[in-house]
Amino acid sequence: MKVAVIGAGTMGSGIAQTFAQCDEVETVYLCDIKEEFAEGGLGKVKKNLDKLVSKGKMDQAKADSIIAKFKTGLNTIAVDPDLVVEAALEVMDIKKNCFKDLEENIVKNPNCIFASNTSSLSITEIGAGLKTPVIGMHFFNPAPVMKLIEVIKGANTPDETVEKVEEIARKLGKTPVRVQESAGFVANRILIPMINEGIFVYSEGVADIEGVDNAMKLGCNHPMGPLELGDYIGLDIVLAIMNVLYTETADSKYRPAPLLKKMVRAGHLGVKSGRGFYDYSQGFKNKVPVDKKN
Ligand code: 3HC
Repeated sequence: MKVAVIGAGTMGSGIAQTFAQCDEVETVYLCDIKEEFAEGGLGKVKKNLDKLVSKGKMDQAKADSIIAKFKTGLNTIAVDPDLVVEAALEVMDIKKNCFKDLEENIVKNPNCIFASNTSSLSITEIGAGLKTPVIGMHFFNPAPVMKLIEVIKGANTPDETVEKVEEIARKLGKTPVRVQESAGFVANRILIPMINEGIFVYSEGVADIEGVDNAMKLGCNHPMGPLELGDYIGLDIVLAIMNVLYTETADSKYRPAPLLKKMVRAGHLGVKSGRGFYDYSQGFKNKVPVDKKN
């Protein structure tokens, strides 16, 4: 199987690594709007594989064979994939234009499946106006580790495509959960409002940053607290998903926390910008809550 991943950011590179680690995948095209972005994505994959090799979880020959499956560049290299997974920015027009360009000018394989890794946008709208049906194939961060793939059926997605994508998810060692189109699908509809609530709790002064996170880690066995996880996902992504939930439902229970909006406006996006609820200047493992810093 040949797979094209469009968008080489955190999710795109993690998804590309997940496919490249699967024995049934022979080629992974990792594409972005600039060649250096695509190369940067491959750099992240190499770093992850180096870690696995240094921990003795993978031998060097296996890591080399995974890297050898990659071809990086602009979308124009994705001529003959069996599956495209779009992991571009969470902006409807960007996703729509990306698939339109792939369909009209690039992909020559008439049986290619078009999948989007959107975290909350309408699959039906992403696919509107295309001849090829679009399906949601929603991975979770870190993609090589997390076992879930939400498989989202838009109004025009044939059952056959849903079944094929579920089969591919199983081949990747993941568990597919079939989801009908609805804002935020299942996981993000539950998870992201919880993170948003954590931000309200902190901003109301109920507990400090570590207090909010420890309450959920130690009291509920979550691997990360809500503020830590918001930083990890990216606060811009958290805000974008809250905005989709809020505008799609017009329900005030989904209103984004003012502090979340303020932090995104300030460019404090979490791990990727070096600062969110924690300061990451000393590395991820040595992060310091910003309310404790000096
Ligand atoms: N790529 C590949 N492997 C990774 C990785 C990455 N980016 N990050 C961690 N790992 C691997 C490590 O190599 C390690 O493997 P090992 O057990 O075989 O040695 C394993 O994952 C555990 O990693 P660490 O020991 O470094 O750290 P932790 O034990 O603290 O686990 C974590 C890290 C898996 C990220 C864990 O904290 C966790 O599960 N956090 C919650 C993540 C979560 O909720 N994700 C969903 C976010 S929502 C989303 O993505 C949807 C989107 O639409 C917003």
